[in-house]
Amino acid sequence: MTEFIALIPAAGSGSRMGEAVPKQYRPLAGKPMIYHALRTLCSTDRIGTVCVVLAPDDKEWVRHDWDEFSGKIRIFNCGGATRAESVTNGLKALRAANCVQDQDWILVHDAARPGLSHALTERLLDQLAEDEVGGLLAVPLADTLKRADDTDRVVRTESRERLWQAQTPQMFRAKLLLEALEKAPASITDDASAVEALGFSPRLVMGDAYNFKVTYPQDLKLAELVLQARCNTKRIS
Ligand code: C5P
Repeated sequence: MTEFIALIPAAGSGSRMGEAVPKQYRPLAGKPMIYHALRTLCSTDRIGTVCVVLAPDDKEWVRHDWDEFSGKIRIFNCGGATRAESVTNGLKALRAANCVQDQDWILVHDAARPGLSHALTERLLDQLAEDEVGGLLAVPLADTLKRADDTDRVVRTESRERLWQAQTPQMFRAKLLLEALEKAPASITDDASAVEALGFSPRLVMGDAYNFKVTYPQDLKLAELVLQARCNTKRIS
């Protein structure tokens, strides 16, 4: 039977946040940031395993209590120099541990997207489980796009028609994803572009604005509000 396996690359240093502690461990709503994505993925029944890829020299993971996820998570200290390398190494580690078959679905999700909800995860699984290629959560672009020159002056306004912003999870079969990442140019910043480079067209599944990536310090405040609002809604309902 085909399994659904989540893979969280969490080996980045988060240098754009300007802090010593890696971004995925920054405190958010009383927990390290990665906790929130882990909770959503681990409590999704259809997902059988959640693999976390840490940096080989990670010192933070063991400082926190992850017992509530112990039934589902597998930790591998095999992160690489880039996100793509961390995902590739994670897939190879899963294979070496006999935890994945070629046709299993891998959902790659950034540790820095704490706003992933159950509803979005379920929508992705529903819409892609029978798909030939796989795909990703994404949102249609809302803002007008400006192309700049070297001095930050507008060269032209780009059309935003049919432009989407890629989010995660990005969901592909293990064999295809590994092959794609191994052949991908070093410049790729997500898994789908590696698959695209092989000539496939991943499907876009509607995400939402709450599933944004925490990149800059001000994003932390926004993420805190999203998580708090979600918590309050659960208490009321
Ligand atoms: O830096 P950025 O926000 O693009 O990172 C996206 C995700 O990729 C984060 O979860 C980060 O920890 C992970 N990453 C990784 N290995 C790297 C760089 C980033 O696992 N070398």
